[in-house]
Amino acid sequence: MKVSLSINQQDVQVEVPAYRTLIDLLRAKGFWSVKHGCEDGQCGSCSVIVDGRAVHSCSRLAAQVEGKSVTTYEGFRSDSRYTSLKEALMNLVDLDCGYCIPGMMVSIMALLEANPEPPEEDVKDALRGSRCFCKATLNDLSNVMEAIDKIRGKW
Ligand code: FES
Repeated sequence: MKVSLSINQQDVQVEVPAYRTLIDLLRAKGFWSVKHGCEDGQCGSCSVIVDGRAVHSCSRLAAQVEGKSVTTYEGFRSDSRYTSLKEALMNLVDLDCGYCIPGMMVSIMALLEANPEPPEEDVKDALRGSRCFCKATLNDLSNVMEAIDKIRGKW
């Protein structure tokens, strides 16, 4: 079947089998930030933004994003406004591997699209859907909140 969508603001048309998941479509297109993890909608490694909402791409079929706008971490990774947020997250999880960082970034970016001034509790909620496979705990969010303030100043 043919699916038309936008990936990081580029219109694409792809021919996919009906069973192809969104994560497999994105990785086949070279969006390696979209990571395989639990494959069960539990860990957030595969998170992408679809029409403004963070979704687990392992739990979506490619056909379900027909006509939609998909944003992966690659869509904003080179934007320097987000560097401090990435660094804050890397410090937060006391980086061992960084596997979870793109999913966390995507979750926070989706939150900021919905609410540019989220309270800390909402940021915590957004990150709850992301599991750090190194088992870091997400306790002190002060650096993350500071990074969000910086982004907000440059919106
Ligand atoms: Fe999709 Fe874990 S791989 S939520």
